[in-house]
This record gives sequence, C-alpha cells and structure tokens, in this order.
Amino acid sequence: MLPAVDPVSPLSDVSSSLFEMSTLATIAEGLSSQGWCCVDQPFAAGADPVPELRAELLTYQRQDALVMAAVGRGDERISDRSIRGDRIRWLDGSSAIQASLFRGLDELQRFLNRALFLGLRAYEAHFALYRPGDFYRRHVDSFRGRASRIVSVVLYLNDEWGPEDGGALRLYDPNENSRILATLLPQGSRLMCFLSEDIPHEVLPATQTRYSIACWFRRDLPAA
Ligand code: OGA
Ligand code: MN
Repeated sequence: MLPAVDPVSPLSDVSSSLFEMSTLATIAEGLSSQGWCCVDQPFAAGADPVPELRAELLTYQRQDALVMAAVGRGDERISDRSIRGDRIRWLDGSSAIQASLFRGLDELQRFLNRALFLGLRAYEAHFALYRPGDFYRRHVDSFRGRASRIVSVVLYLNDEWGPEDGGALRLYDPNENSRILATLLPQGSRLMCFLSEDIPHEVLPATQTRYSIACWFRRDLPAA
C-alpha cells in the first residue's frame, strides 16, 4: 500500500491547533500499516469544531440548501437513489468554523506529506445528510490511475448515536471481496480516514438523520 512511516522525518516542527498532535501521527500510522484509521475525539482540548459544524449543517437543512449527491464523473454525473441517497453541500471555508476546519485539514495534509510522501496538493469537502433509510452502496472513492482522490476523511457530526440507529460505515478488504475490515458507527467527533483508491466501503441505512462531513485529499488540483 504505502511506505512505512519514516522515523527520521522532521515532524516535530509541524504544529497543529485543531488536531491533537498524537492524532496526526495515529492517522499516518494507520494509513501506512492497514490503509485506514479511526480516531475518536481527534481534536485538541477546547478545539472541537463539531457542535458548530453541526449547527451550520442544520441551518442548511432548514433552508433547504442541500442538493442530491451525484455519482459518476464529468458529463456522466447523475443522481441515483438506488446507489446513494445523501444530500450534500460543498464547504467553501467562508464561515469562521469552516475556515478553522480548513486550517486543520491543511495541517493534516502537510503532516501526511511529510510522514508518507503522499504529494497531496488540495482537498475538497462536503457536508452530507442521510435521511432515515438513505444509504450509499459499496464503492471506492477513486479509481487507480486517474490519480485524483488519495485519502478520504469522514468526520461525523451526530449528537448521540447508538447501535440501534444504524448508519454504520463498513470497510471491506481490498484483496478479499467479502471480508469486512471494520463496521463503525457515525458517532459525533469520530474521524475516519482511509486510502481512497484501496478501501471499498458502504454506508448502511440509518434510522435517524445522519450528519457528516466527507473530505478528500487529492494529488491533482481540482478542476476550476
Ligand atoms: C462518501 C462516503 C462515508 C460515510 O461520501 O463517499 O463513503 O461514512 N461516506 O459517510
Ligand atoms: Mn465513499
């Protein structure tokens, strides 16, 4: 998958204000050793942006300012509720809380580049809302060779979430179709990272409205 973490990289001068420093190292280690990583409460003390991000998404929901997510690429993008049912809104960094999340993502990008030599150059992020019954069928976020999305990150914004609420993210073994690597509930302030080209995954239907932010680090620059 990826080279092992280089122990002599000069990582000590990378400072992070949003994430706990140990979070960045845990993510790099997880991506390197197993292709994915789950961190609960990844944020530095007093820096958790989740309540504010969630409030922003609730506002967009009230204003009906979310759009049906699409699948496919370029001219072939269509929305198809038999594949994915979520509604989304792209983040643009214009609010204070989005700007602070973007600073954290900048730090994560720098850290991953130094630790794993990923050559990440940009990221894109959207809010996602799944209503009860919505799901996202098994997929990969990027196809090898098209060199676009390299690392996927999902941050969950749910207030309270239990096993009975469903909506788990399920990761599959890239080499063994039916082997489940992990099934993780979308608990608030949980951060999931995985290699976009490697890890097939799906979102199981939930019984509650499910709130999250999905983000992709890219090696190319997104089309204007
Ligand atoms: C996606 C996705 C996972 C999740 O948006 O591509 O797979 O847990 N999201 O929301
Ligand atoms: Mn995905």
